[in-house]
Amino acid sequence: MSNSKFDLGTPINTALFLFILYSIQKIIFPSIPNKNSNKKQPTPTEFKTGYTWSPKSHPPTVLFKTYTPKTLEPFNGVDSQRILLAINGIVFDVSAGRNFYGPNGMYGNFAGRDASRGMAKQSFDPEMLTPVDQPLDKLTDLAPDEIENMKGWIDHFSNKYLICGKLVENDAI
Ligand code: HEM
Repeated sequence: MSNSKFDLGTPINTALFLFILYSIQKIIFPSIPNKNSNKKQPTPTEFKTGYTWSPKSHPPTVLFKTYTPKTLEPFNGVDSQRILLAINGIVFDVSAGRNFYGPNGMYGNFAGRDASRGMAKQSFDPEMLTPVDQPLDKLTDLAPDEIENMKGWIDHFSNKYLICGKLVENDAI
């Protein structure tokens, strides 16, 4: 007949009992690193033990905003670090493509502008850009293949850049 009583006298049971006590204590009083402590914690460079470290400040965020041709224009990379452009009403943050859209970039003409027509017609001609004080280009005269071409660029931009707003008429906001 086996004795079913828990006997604390055996070393293995004592060790188990102490381990259980220790585990319960760890669950009830977990050790949280004190954020205000003066002890400077080194910034981790690789993932090792878990996500117990958080950055000092929140990383920069991109706010989805409504732009008009006039408010989009300053983001042309000349007066700003940030470069935006619009295609078919969608505003993309193309700052990461400064080589393309910066002042010396091959596609700098599109920076801060509605690039829809130029993208559709695959052209840099100045008349592709609607003056910023004029109503938005409705694109109604474009051929189906030009619309398709423009949509292809929208796909390309959506995969590569952040969408950060929409473009509306100057008097809409
Ligand atoms: C002489 C003719 C052209 C050449 C040699 C050329 C060359 C290039 C090259 C090498 C790239 C980079 C591709 C990559 O790294 O992903 C590029 C991208 C691009 N090209 Fe052209 N291109 C020409 C004409 C045009 C025209 C007429 C347009 C007008 C819409 C245009 C619009 C663009 C755009 C929007 C990009 C994407 C840039 C980005 O990813 O931000 N290109 N082109």
